[in-house]
Amino acid sequence: MFSKLLSLAALAAVANAEHWIFGGSRPIVQTRLDPVVNQGTVGSHVHAVVGASRFSDIYNADDLMKSNCTTIPVQPDKSNYWAPQLYHHDQQTGGLTPIPTTFNIYYLVRQGPKNEKINAFPKGLKMVAGDTARRSYNSSSFADQAVSYVCLDYNNAHTNDPDWAERPNFFDHTCPDGMRAQVFFPSCWDGVNLDSADHKSHMAYPIQNYNSGDCPASHPVHLVSLFYEMLVSVDQFPYTGAGTWVLANGDTTAATSRTAGM
Ligand SMILES: *[C@@H]1O[C@H](CO)[C@@H](O)[C@H](O)[C@H]1NC(C)=O
Ligand SMILES: *[C@@H]1O[C@H](CO)[C@@H](O)[C@H](O)[C@H]1NC(C)=O
Repeated sequence: MFSKLLSLAALAAVANAEHWIFGGSRPIVQTRLDPVVNQGTVGSHVHAVVGASRFSDIYNADDLMKSNCTTIPVQPDKSNYWAPQLYHHDQQTGGLTPIPTTFNIYYLVRQGPKNEKINAFPKGLKMVAGDTARRSYNSSSFADQAVSYVCLDYNNAHTNDPDWAERPNFFDHTCPDGMRAQVFFPSCWDGVNLDSADHKSHMAYPIQNYNSGDCPASHPVHLVSLFYEMLVSVDQFPYTGAGTWVLANGDTTAATSRTAGM
C-alpha cells in the first residue's frame, strides 16, 4: 500500500524557547526563498512559511528577533518554519492552485530511559528534516518514519480501513476534513554546530526511535523535540486520481520539506 514516499526537508532555526503548542499558525508568506538551503538567493520551489515577519533570504537569529510580529500565536517565538506548498493539480486544465494551509507547531519534552536533561534550542539553530529528492520509503529509517500523513475524517467513517490509516505517503482518495502532513525533527544535537553542509548532520534522531529515546554519543545534547503539522484543506478540491496533489518540489507521492528556524 505504500508505493512511494516522499521526503521532507525540514529546517528548524530556533531561538531560546520553552515548550508549547502553537496551534493554527497561518503562513506569513508563500515564497521561493529558503534561507537555510538556498541562502541569499532564490530557491527551487515555493514554500509555505510561518513565523516571524522579518523572514528573508538570509536567516539571522538576531535580526529575526527584531520582528515586530509573527503568525505564531506565541509572540515571543520569532522562529520561522517552512515546507513545500501543496498544490491542487487540475488534470483537465493543467491548472495548479495552492491549497490553503495552516500549521500546528509542537515543542515536546521527550526523555528516553536515561532521563537526559532536555535543553532549549540554541539560538540560531537551523535544521532540515526529510529529503526533497526522496520518492521511496525505507521503513527502517527514522528519518523516513518521521514524515507521515493523516486523512482527517471527523465522522470516523473509516476507522479500521488500512487505506485511511496514517501512512508515509499521499492517500488515493480525498480526505473529508483535510489532510495533516506531519514531521518530527531530530532532537539530538552535536552541541557545537548550529548548521552543517547538509543542514542535517549536526542533528540526529535518538537511539531508540525517531520521536523519543536517548541521544547517541555523537550528538549528546538532548534538545526539545520539534514536531509540526501542516493542515491542508484538500477537501476544498475534487480528487481526480494520482497526481491530484503535488508538492511544490514536483513530488506527487508525498515528499515534503519542512524547516524551522529559531
Ligand atoms: C516595527 O516597530 C517599530 C517600533 O514600534 C517601528 O518603528 C517600525 O516601523 C516597525 N516596523 C515595521 C516594518 O512595521
Ligand atoms: C534503510 O534504513 C536503514 C537504517 O537507516 C539503513 O541501514 C539501510 O541502509 C536503508 N536501506 C536503504 C535501501 O537505503
